[in-house]
Amino acid sequence: MIRSFLFVPADSERKLEKAKSTNADALILDLEDSVTPDSRPAARELAREHAGPGVWVRINPLDTEDADADLEAVMRAGPAGIVLPKPWNAGDAMELGFRLSELEQEHDLEPASTRILPICTERPEAVFSMGGYVEATDRLFGLTWGAEDLAAALGATRNRDDDGNWLPPYELARTHCLIYSAAAGVPAIDTVYTDFRDTQGLARYASNARRDGFSGMLAIHPAQIDTINDAFTPSAAEVERAQRILALFAENPDAGVVALDGQMIDRPHLTQAERIVRLAEVARRSNS
Ligand code: COA
Ligand code: MG
Repeated sequence: MIRSFLFVPADSERKLEKAKSTNADALILDLEDSVTPDSRPAARELAREHAGPGVWVRINPLDTEDADADLEAVMRAGPAGIVLPKPWNAGDAMELGFRLSELEQEHDLEPASTRILPICTERPEAVFSMGGYVEATDRLFGLTWGAEDLAAALGATRNRDDDGNWLPPYELARTHCLIYSAAAGVPAIDTVYTDFRDTQGLARYASNARRDGFSGMLAIHPAQIDTINDAFTPSAAEVERAQRILALFAENPDAGVVALDGQMIDRPHLTQAERIVRLAEVARRSNS
């Protein structure tokens, strides 16, 4: 389970070094929007040097020539996965899967070991075309979404209101990402919080994301990592309550419903309790 993914522009040696000292559960070396076309060849070399287990690479959109050059450069390093920007639909994730199969074979990597994380809402067409992810590919790690490219595509001047809440088109995109992730049985990863000095706002945002069902979040700055990891780690009180729910059902194997502190607890609560205990265990291992 990955709580925090830190984007690192792959053309910056300084940031690539700095990224290693953070507690990010995973890094995403970016070859797309944060790197200019002129810097891309050098960035690919740096990405190749730094890619490997725990390190993902964001390539360019599949319908660009850059995408092939990106994959050519980084796959020999065996990255944990590829972040796919601007897919039209799940067909792009499948197409990427075929290219990864060839490159895995070429570089003696374990077949199907490279995961895929599509940013599934950057094109207007993509927002209503997510059904295919449900059956797309075993490589699918999860789904994430983006509000910046979508806003640009819609011709919008902003994507949040004055209080920082997503405006309706972006809330819709976020919801589609969440629901189709669940339908596909993979983690939903919430998008970046661009105001990187606003730690309190980030804590609130990330805590709401976890409440809504997201498993983790994208980050753009090292200062965001600990806040995100905390927010996606169940609190001690939550874990304690979840364990009491598991114990109650274990003690009453024939009961479909039980009572706890004056609340009705039935099967969906058991599912939630199991998830909380599982998340806490994974977080404990990541932190140690
Ligand atoms: N990864 C690794 N290190 C980073 C980093 C990142 N994403 N963002 C900042 N740092 C480093 C800086 O290099 C600096 O290191 P230093 O002390 O060795 O100089 C330190 O963290 C503090 O950075 P700060 O001065 O607060 O920010 P900045 O003005 O240098 O950078 C951004 C601000 C937004 C340009 C930068 O955070 C960034 O590049 N973020 C990622 C952008 C990206 O990948 N976008 C694509 C996905 S949306
Ligand atoms: Mg973008």
